Amino acid sequence: SRYALILAGGSGQRFWPISRDALPKQLLKLFGDKTLLEMTVERLDGLVPKENILVLTNKTQEAGVRALLPDLPKENIIAEPEKRDTAPAIALAVGWVVARDPAATMMVLPADHLIQNKAEFQRTLSTAMDAAESGNALVTIGVKPTWPCPSFGYIERGRRATLLNVDCGGLYEVVRFREKPNPDLAEHFISQGTFTWNAGMFIWTIPAIFSEMSRHCPALADFISELRGSKDFMATVNKQFGKLPKLSIDYALMERSSRVLNVEATFDWDDVGNWTSVGRYLQKDGGGNQHNCALSQISAANNLVFSQTGQHVALLGVQDLIVVSTKDALLITSRAHAENIKKLVDQLPKEL
Ligand code: GDD
Ligand code: MG
Repeated sequence: SRYALILAGGSGQRFWPISRDALPKQLLKLFGDKTLLEMTVERLDGLVPKENILVLTNKTQEAGVRALLPDLPKENIIAEPEKRDTAPAIALAVGWVVARDPAATMMVLPADHLIQNKAEFQRTLSTAMDAAESGNALVTIGVKPTWPCPSFGYIERGRRATLLNVDCGGLYEVVRFREKPNPDLAEHFISQGTFTWNAGMFIWTIPAIFSEMSRHCPALADFISELRGSKDFMATVNKQFGKLPKLSIDYALMERSSRVLNVEATFDWDDVGNWTSVGRYLQKDGGGNQHNCALSQISAANNLVFSQTGQHVALLGVQDLIVVSTKDALLITSRAHAENIKKLVDQLPKEL
């Protein structure tokens, strides 16, 4: 049977003042009235039954996650005892799935991406599951890169892969996987024309992931074995989780494995890394000002205005600003500084 793990434990400060410790990107309503987490679960409708969806988060965000997903069985939402990045979280999920079906196929999905074309998303993921099942490999999803972004993983494609029983459209062998290269290397990768961005989604069967973890991350494989033999799943998690290596799956496994395949994404994909990316989805006035609230302006151009309270905002003679307002905080910065909001948040009083 088929399972999905939704990773919803990341923190995010780049959307301050809307985002807070207990409210990272996946729990925000940045695009209309649904959060990215809700949209992620809805995208699985028809692909994976609800009882086969596991959502992993942390204690700080647990209440928020549960409130958004009342239709999931309670035991399908788990808070990790501490934040140890995605590799230990994924190992926990493998242990959870193994107990239900040791021959299952599972997908790992981030909770905080914007993907609008559900049909194409499901088509790509179905191909990836077919490939995982017949290829016994770790399957990644490749997004066509548009610039040398240093905060993604890069996948070098090899030959087109041919597998029995699989429509191989868009399926490739992988020469190497390189997580977050420095800007020069990213530039070099892009110039080669054979690299794609890693969409942050992984598809594999339980036997394939267990054997690759045994080879490349034995501590995680041991954890899975212990979970499998344990009578009290959460007691074992609480005892062992803090001892696991604090690493993302990209560094812990994907860079090391030589059994990786890549399926080309046919859906739209946006990692929505900062306010500038959110702005692209807002309405725009004649001056190129992006806004989600009522806006009046004279001689104001190319600003981004986001109000959580529905205030009326007025701009006079300003350009390239980012203005974000909530009940208790107001951010005024410029587009050029959108990437540095994290640094500012570090200096704020704790309650914000
Ligand atoms: N449960 C849980 N626990 N979830 C976590 C944890 C954790 O400790 N840490 C991160 N996550 C969640 C995040 O909320 C997100 O949904 C997903 O796991 C990926 O983590 P990020 O921290 O956002 O990773 P990244 O964006 O730096 O890099 C990954 O995604 C890129 C695409 O967006 C990598 O896979 C890159 O290779 C990839 O290009
Ligand atoms: Mg991310």
